[in-house]
Amino acid sequence: MKKALVAYFSASGNTAKAAKTLAKAAEAALYEIKPAVPYTRADLNWMDKTSRSSVEMADRQSRPALADTDAPVADCDVIFLGFPIWWYVAPTIINTFLESYDFSGKTIVLFATSGGSGLGQSADGLRSSAPGARIVDGRMMSGHLSEANLKNWVDGLDL
Ligand SMILES: Cc1cc2nc3c(=O)[nH]c(=O)nc-3n(C[C@H](O)[C@H](O)[C@H](O)COP(=O)(O)O)c2cc1C
Repeated sequence: MKKALVAYFSASGNTAKAAKTLAKAAEAALYEIKPAVPYTRADLNWMDKTSRSSVEMADRQSRPALADTDAPVADCDVIFLGFPIWWYVAPTIINTFLESYDFSGKTIVLFATSGGSGLGQSADGLRSSAPGARIVDGRMMSGHLSEANLKNWVDGLDL
């Protein structure tokens, strides 16, 4: 496989866990996408229409700011991009991340964790933020995953 990076956003730790196992399985560098302003518990309350996550996800043009732009994207050909599913798609900070680097010519493989939803239309909401990249649906990674299981999956992707 070409040189790979696992970049992930995780507000409450589930996607972080999957990303760490995936990075080992793919022998990839690991990078956490951090918001400039971390999400509090109240921010994540999807029952509250006025919470930060509800307001951001109601406006797909919202672009929450990043804490840094230090991801080693330029060094990698394949980027595994992980996030929690929010309202059936990727959080808009993933758009911010994609718009902060040049992904042209690269392959982006999506993965996510959720309470039950799949990747849905996530890729469609991200393509315009990474012109020239090939964005493909990877897989859901909710729950426990072994490194061996993920290695099999990565090898099968034929990247
Ligand atoms: C604002 C918000 C919206 C969510 N929307 C969905 C959803 O549409 N479908 C779903 O299955 N889970 C949804 N969830 C649950 C998360 O996807 C799930 O808990 C995920 O594993 C969290 O990952 P993290 O710990 O890496 O942040 C939502 C959670 C939040 C905070």
